[in-house]
Amino acid sequence: MKILGIETSCDETAASVVKDGYGVLSNVIGSSEKLHEETKGIVPEIAARDSALKIAPILQKAVLDARVSWEEIDAIAVTNGPGLLGSLLVGIEAAKTLALLYKKPLIPVFHIAGHLFSNILERKELPHFPVISLTVSGGHNDLYVWERLSEIQKLGSTIDDAAGEAFDKGARMLGLPYPGGPHLSRIAEGGDAQKIHFPRPMKQSGDFNFSFSGLKTALFYEIRNRGGLHEISDSEKADLAASYQEAIVEILLQKLFSAADAYSAKEVHLAGGVSANKRLRERFLEEAQKRNLLTRIPEKMSYSTDNAAMIAAAGYVMWENASKETRKTFTIQNLEVNLSHEFRM
Ligand code: KG4
Ligand code: ZN
Repeated sequence: MKILGIETSCDETAASVVKDGYGVLSNVIGSSEKLHEETKGIVPEIAARDSALKIAPILQKAVLDARVSWEEIDAIAVTNGPGLLGSLLVGIEAAKTLALLYKKPLIPVFHIAGHLFSNILERKELPHFPVISLTVSGGHNDLYVWERLSEIQKLGSTIDDAAGEAFDKGARMLGLPYPGGPHLSRIAEGGDAQKIHFPRPMKQSGDFNFSFSGLKTALFYEIRNRGGLHEISDSEKADLAASYQEAIVEILLQKLFSAADAYSAKEVHLAGGVSANKRLRERFLEEAQKRNLLTRIPEKMSYSTDNAAMIAAAGYVMWENASKETRKTFTIQNLEVNLSHEFRM
């Protein structure tokens, strides 16, 4: 079965054709990162306008790259939330038009379910369940348990900022360009992660929720106590970045591995934009090895950040597990934006 995935929930505009839920035939992504570098953050109207400009050629390229005809596509899967309203509507309206034109089923996909399925892409073998998956990006920061491919439960999420947001805001305080996460992690490589003590909010809270806003405040005071950014040397900046990053990584992994213990997981996964972070990957692999747990991180960087292949993969599992009656509900009439962060599949 070939599914065309469409993803426009934030600042990326993406389309992809995926075969049988894991075989990526094409994966086209257009980003508005350059535009948002100038505005030093995402401006919803700019992101939506950029998606509206890009969506048609990106769809055309996704189908061309996959070497399939429009008629050969069996279904369309589109992100219907959560995300920026204007951006989501661009993808949804494009998907509805195509579904109407080519008479295809239209599957609504929850964006974060897509991130979970990024670890299914290009893997012929299914994971060993139960799986604990940590999906971390600029907009979301959640922990999930997978009992089977179609049985997923949210265990916890952030009560304030997401880890990606903490990276981006910390980077901005350190005078680094947008998006700050990769820049902060680059300068952290030359720093001492033990030099400055940052708090580990909610580390011992006994649940699977996260909090990062206190960490951001702590960085603000560290900079202010040194007389401001202009008084801080490059090597001290590197120490601040490394210590700040270490605190984020430690909080994320402490929750991930305590969930793995609690649910007797066989496998642990990282997903979302922050899974590109080198230190997080390193520490994740070390801790998993100590516990004899299997691991997955998306096969390619382009599967970590927002993409449409993961949306098609999630859509495939929804289709495969749907009854005849449910399949009949996958229509243009039933598909609408849903901004709720409650897990749905
Ligand atoms: O999943 P994603 O592309 O978009 C959202 O849905 O938010 O994630 C983007 C986030 C940004 O906050 C970005 O700074 C962060 O992922 N990120 C990183 C790294 N690469 C991307 N954070 C830390 N280290 C990185 N290497
Ligand atoms: Zn995302």
